[in-house]
Amino acid sequence: MKNKFISMEGPDGSGKTTQIELLKEYLEKKGYEILVTREPGGTKISEAVRNIILDKSYVEMDYMTEALLYAAARAQLVAEVIKPALDEGKFVISDRFVDSSAVYQGMARGLGVEAVYKINEFAIQNVMPDITVHLDLPAAVGITRKKNQAELDRMELETLSFHESVADGYRELAKMSPDRIYTIDATQSAEDIHKLILKKLESML
Ligand code: TYD
Repeated sequence: MKNKFISMEGPDGSGKTTQIELLKEYLEKKGYEILVTREPGGTKISEAVRNIILDKSYVEMDYMTEALLYAAARAQLVAEVIKPALDEGKFVISDRFVDSSAVYQGMARGLGVEAVYKINEFAIQNVMPDITVHLDLPAAVGITRKKNQAELDRMELETLSFHESVADGYRELAKMSPDRIYTIDATQSAEDIHKLILKKLESML
């Protein structure tokens, strides 16, 4: 079987975690060995970098620093977790991957998508998802969900217009990679979204 790598993307509060849990459960029942991970994080070092990136007291963080820290966390995750798992034939599902940097840092922060993919080339060693699920929903809906769940981190505390740029950025990125990025209207019920994801993945399974 060919290696399978799926990334789940979308604005904050788009329901990625719920969908990943549903997908993992489904695939495990089918007999697949599944590795679930998240970005930024997924290794001891990457989780430490995550704590730096999301610390809301670091208001002075430069956008380049932010982009490089995300890339550093990703480099460790790819080397330590994702690449070995794919080599062992596991099915890998990642809550966010390099497209998050393309959208949040490249588009919403304005560093440029090309520049952000370029710095990430070094970090990802040619590892790219086979399929990326994009959960599309209005920024305000996602942020309201987040506010109701927990204390907001440095990124979540950004302005609504920043989060709107993120939501628009994902739509634009999906148009740029229609063969890989599959957009789903995430205002639907979790069960309906799950069914759409399974339909899309049918050909891979
Ligand atoms: P995450 O833990 O996925 O947050 P949530 O569960 O709220 O979606 O991601 C943390 C934040 O980091 C989120 O606001 C998105 C942002 N982010 C970037 O800006 N660039 C990146 O490359 C990644 C992976 C995440």
